[in-house]
Formats: sequence, C-alpha cells, structure tokens
Amino acid sequence: MALKLNDKFLNGYISKEDIDTISGEVYAAQSLLNSRTGAGNDFLGWIDLPVDYDKDEFARIKDAAKRIQNSCDVFVVIGIGGSYLGARAAIEFVKSPVYNNIPGKKTPDIYFAGNSISASALNDLLKICEGRDVCVNVVSKSGTTTEPAVAFRVFRALLEQKYGKEGAKDRIFATTDKAKGTLKKFSDENGYETFVVPDDVGGRFSVLTAVGLLPIAVAGIDIDSMMKGAQDARDAYTKANIDENDCLKYVAIRNILLRKGKSLEILAAYEPAAQMLCEWWKQLYGESEGKDGKGIYPSSVIFSTDLHSLGQFIQDGTRMMFETVLDIKKSNDELLIPFDPDNVDKLNFLSGKDLDFVNHTAMLGTLFAHTDGNVPNIVLELEDRSEYSFGYLVYFFELACAISGYTLGVNPFNQPGVESYKKNMFALLGKEGYEELREELTKRIK
Ligand code: PA5
Repeated sequence: MALKLNDKFLNGYISKEDIDTISGEVYAAQSLLNSRTGAGNDFLGWIDLPVDYDKDEFARIKDAAKRIQNSCDVFVVIGIGGSYLGARAAIEFVKSPVYNNIPGKKTPDIYFAGNSISASALNDLLKICEGRDVCVNVVSKSGTTTEPAVAFRVFRALLEQKYGKEGAKDRIFATTDKAKGTLKKFSDENGYETFVVPDDVGGRFSVLTAVGLLPIAVAGIDIDSMMKGAQDARDAYTKANIDENDCLKYVAIRNILLRKGKSLEILAAYEPAAQMLCEWWKQLYGESEGKDGKGIYPSSVIFSTDLHSLGQFIQDGTRMMFETVLDIKKSNDELLIPFDPDNVDKLNFLSGKDLDFVNHTAMLGTLFAHTDGNVPNIVLELEDRSEYSFGYLVYFFELACAISGYTLGVNPFNQPGVESYKKNMFALLGKEGYEELREELTKRIK
C-alpha cells in the first residue's frame, strides 16, 4: 500500500466514540456515491477511470507525447483550474519543481499559460519562446473560459506566424469536449489533433484523463504506472469498514474536526516538489466543498520554509485549524551534510547525516510542537514521489473529497460560485447581454 494514515498526532481530539458516531454518515455518503444517486451524479466518471478509460486514446496520448518531445523545445500548456493544476502538480512532484532546468533533460521545457490575466506572465513566456520550437496544448472542457481562450489566441498567432497555418496545425493539440463546444469545432475546422475531457468528469477530477496525461507524458513520466497507482487505490478503498479504509477514516476525522470548530485544513508537506500538488488539492477541496455556507477552508504550507512564516500562527494564533501532513517516506535524493573542521556554525553534530533524515526529524519535532499547540495533525504516509504513488494519492484525495462533500451535505461536483466574478467581469468589460448588470455595478463604484 503506497499510502497509510497515521492518527497518532490527533492530540485526543478524536475519540473512538466520535468515529463510531460519524461512521454511519460516512457510510451513507459512500453508498450515495456508489449508488450514483447523489447530487452531481452525472459527474462520476472519475470513479472508474483508473480501469475504465479509453485505451485507444491512451495510446494516442503516448504517441502525441513522443511527437511533441521530438518537435519542440518548449511545450506550452494553456488552461486554468482543473485544466492545468493536476498536470503541473504531477510534473513537479514526480520530476522536480525546477523540471525545466534539470541538466541534460531530454524532454521539452513545459510552461503553463492561460491561468491568469497577467500581461507580464504572457509576455515573459512569449520572450522565453523566441528562437525556440514551440508546441501548444490548449485544455478547456467548456472551450469558452476567458483566461485560456485569450492565451490561446496569443499563442495561435505566434505559431501561425512562425510556422504558417499548415505548420501550426501539427503543433497545436486541443483537449476539450468530445463533440460540442467552440474549441472542439474550431480544432476540427483547423485540423488540430484533439483529446477528450469525458462528459462525466469535471475539471478538478480530470488529472487522469488526457487533461493531465498528455503534459505528464510529454515530461517523460510513466503514465501506465500512474494509472496503476490509481487502480490500486481504487481497489484498496472499496472496503466498507472504516477501520480498514484510510480514505473513509480521513473523511471521518476531518468532518469530526470541523464539527469541533476546526474549519481550516492545512495541507503541509516537507518537499518543495509538493507545492503544486498542494495547489491542486486546494482547488479540489475548495471548489468541491466550499458552498451553501459550508466547507473546510483548504490552505497549504511547505515546511520547513513556512515554519519561518506561517509557523508562528499555526503554533500560537487563533485555534481554528488542523493539519494534514504529507510524510513522503523515501526521498528522491541523498545529500550528506559536510564536516567543517572549524565548526563555525556548531553544526558538526549533523555532519555525515543525510539531509532527508534532518528533514524528517524537523517534521517529527513540528508534529509534537503543533499538537502541543492544540492543532490536531492527520499524517498521510506516502511511500515516495514515484508516478505510482502520485496516482495512488490522487485517487485517495478525489474519493475522500467526494465522500466528504456528501457527508457535509453539498454537491461536490458543481462550482456555482465561480460564475459570480465572470458575470461581473463580462458586464464591466461591456460584453453583449450584460448591460443591466453593468449599469448596476457602475452605480456602485460612483
Ligand atoms: O474544476 C473545474 O471544473 C474548474 O476548475 C475548471 O477546470 C476550470 O474552470 C476551467 O474550465 P474549462 O476547462 O472549461 O476551461
């Protein structure tokens, strides 16, 4: 098993009775999901995705990834939210947060665009692309999201100018709805190769579809092994008994903590490579649970870095949070601390020790400190940073998120709140059909 939940650092916050009391609700939420009768039940394709995926498309993804690897120096992935976070999380977690700068790397540099409306971000990337061969993967299920659509306009123009319309078509890959939508229509008309975001898989649950798999494969990551990890997690978490099912246990503990006033969850990892994984997790839980005035606010830290910033608040500030600590058991690297004959920094007691050992000791020290400071800690022990473990962890978090959402009593698969800013932005930008709202908003800022 690649993942194990350690509940030794909950600091007495969770009793056996608490678990017994909530377990009925958690089982009910699990059955609601499995019977496919709950809210949002048309978005449950991710449940069986690790075993029931389009094998032909999977082969096409691998083939396209090889062509992209052979034909470009820079691969630009355009998408926002669930349309880019999973891919970026996987690449940084499995490879490196400085993947683009890995010496001797044989795969293209990968950049992510269309996830903000910043002119500087887009211009900086255009400069990076100057004089280099570029391929683009535009990822948008709806095909109409403003941020990626604007970035795609910019990069399409760049590619058409550089390679001509014919040349550009072999360098543009679109991941979108299988039949409908502007992007699908436009891609077919222009001859771009397309990949599918299945109808029944929402953006934030789509990392194991072409949305995540194409960029991940371009980075040289073994996507078969990633799927295998997800498959094994799917098998492991079908067990109904909460004592044998860490996924249900995670759901139970976080919901008990919420009911005891802990409305903020901090995902803490001790590897900078997990930073984007935390971003992916925050989107998954934030968009899935935060609605109808409910939910646990998802936040994240990278330790020990953030022990020198947010660490103070976690130890000593308003007691509103619990932590979920990702303990990666095996490091990708070994680095022995050198001996200093002058011992200027008085650190010779560490010389010869592996830095990962020190990192783990810092984790243990922090676990004791934070639990003493009345912050309950759930520890998720992950075997390593392999693609297999990544797939396993992704499935664990997705399944827990869905069951937790049902336990909370929300529809985990919609995101109605995301529309509010869009409406206002369109009205203020003068989009047709938004005249009334524009008038109302203009009055408010006068
Ligand atoms: O999880 C979600 O559904 C969202 O975050 C979407 O992924 C995001 O809004 C992008 O949407 P689209 O792929 O339609 O451009």
